[in-house]
Amino acid sequence: MMEENSKWFENTVFYEIYVPSFCDSNGDGIGDLPGVESKIDYLKEMGVGAVWLTPFYPSPLVDNGYDVSDYFAVHERYGTIADFDRLLEAAHNAGIRVIVDMVLNHTSTGHEWFLKSCENQEKYRDYYIWREKIPNNWESFFDGSAWEYNEGRHMYYYHAFSREQACLNWSNPAILEECKEILRFWLDKGVDGFRLDVINFLKTDKAAFTRDNPCEDGSQKHIYDKNQKGVREAVAELSAFVHTYPDKFLLGEIGDDDLQTIQSYTGCGLLDAAFNFNLGSMEKWDEAYLAEQVLAMDAAGINPTLFFSSHDMRRQFSRLCGENVEAAKLLALFLLTAKGIPFLYQGEEIPLADTRIKSSRDLQDAQGRYAYEKLLLLGKTEEEALRYAKERARDYARGLIDWKLHREEEGSLKELYQGLLMLRREHEALRTGKYGNIALNGHLFYFERIGRQEKIAVTIDFSLTGMISEGPGGSTVLLEIMGGNGCTGLVERLA
Ligand code: NOJ
Ligand code: CA
Repeated sequence: MMEENSKWFENTVFYEIYVPSFCDSNGDGIGDLPGVESKIDYLKEMGVGAVWLTPFYPSPLVDNGYDVSDYFAVHERYGTIADFDRLLEAAHNAGIRVIVDMVLNHTSTGHEWFLKSCENQEKYRDYYIWREKIPNNWESFFDGSAWEYNEGRHMYYYHAFSREQACLNWSNPAILEECKEILRFWLDKGVDGFRLDVINFLKTDKAAFTRDNPCEDGSQKHIYDKNQKGVREAVAELSAFVHTYPDKFLLGEIGDDDLQTIQSYTGCGLLDAAFNFNLGSMEKWDEAYLAEQVLAMDAAGINPTLFFSSHDMRRQFSRLCGENVEAAKLLALFLLTAKGIPFLYQGEEIPLADTRIKSSRDLQDAQGRYAYEKLLLLGKTEEEALRYAKERARDYARGLIDWKLHREEEGSLKELYQGLLMLRREHEALRTGKYGNIALNGHLFYFERIGRQEKIAVTIDFSLTGMISEGPGGSTVLLEIMGGNGCTGLVERLA
């Protein structure tokens, strides 16, 4: 039962599907939409309430589809629009909602708007950010200058990511109108919402371009090229439009770890939630950091997105758990009992480890490839270039899942995920309850979730993750569920 005043997405566990590597239906080695459809029963059985599909639109695939060349179609390697419609219907029939990734900060340089803008066609002249001369020192988030010369127009255009991802000019009102048409197309199909890619990076303020970003410790601090004056107004316009359709979820990726900045994009006519990286991006397991972030986000009024893995990160099983299943159980326990909106990443329930990068051929990701090429140009050896690129590459969590290899065993991690998902569904306090006491004592993390009818106390003994290399220890995880009168009603032993 969904409680009054809370929205479906606050009560839902999401599952991120990185389309190229989730499930391949036709044996060409590439995940596709019919493949996703074939896993709907699996997701339903696990108890997932919604999926987030990463971009599946036509694209030159320089940044694996985050370089869209047509927002109204499906890339042929993933299927057809009819496949999308079938998938959406199958998901909805199974009670699973679908949100799709929407990349509105930039398009592919293969998009017809960009091609026409390069030709200086009047309608498209100001669709992108063009300058006669490079106006500032801004660097791309991937590598090198964010300005690229275009021979056709004899001007420089701005790209915050790869040079094949030209940033749209959001100070041109025509862009908002174009984007509304894109959103309308997918809303009319019946999608349940959007994940807006790097939405705080929209370029909305011409004046900001006159200011250089500062440098610190030899690298650029991205100050003026994000969170510009006017971004929130643009987000508000998008939100108002999306919410003319009832019951839609607008999630925005916020590339910033400042809590007030994150908070400023949510609520009151803005985003329904921010996909923020404060917890997720933890490089090494650190429960003190976890507890500190949980407290800080709560104090800042943020309902956080809960995840430790995504297609942009190394997998939590390798990065944080030392590939120890017992440790993976503890992370699952946290993700599914903490306050916020959980976003599981495909395969973490199996659990899957990172894909290994053995040679430069394994570098598919643009960021990793640029890093590799840059070092070769600087005269470094292939070995040195590979070592450097491996730190930047985002290929680790993008390997195609071979579902035939993963048979389920009793007591498996997947079973635990299933159990926790059920528990979360059954207990309003776990889904939307406030935090009560929160305490970290050594490796023991204790927190209370207080709902309208019940209080749930969760104790997670993270000592296991602290001794990852030593293998399973005697860690116990207890989850106590108490009735409203404070009496212990049920004690479940989960690990
Ligand atoms: C965030 C996406 O998650 C990432 O994969 C992509 O490279 C950038 N946005 C640029 O679109
Ligand atoms: Ca395929």
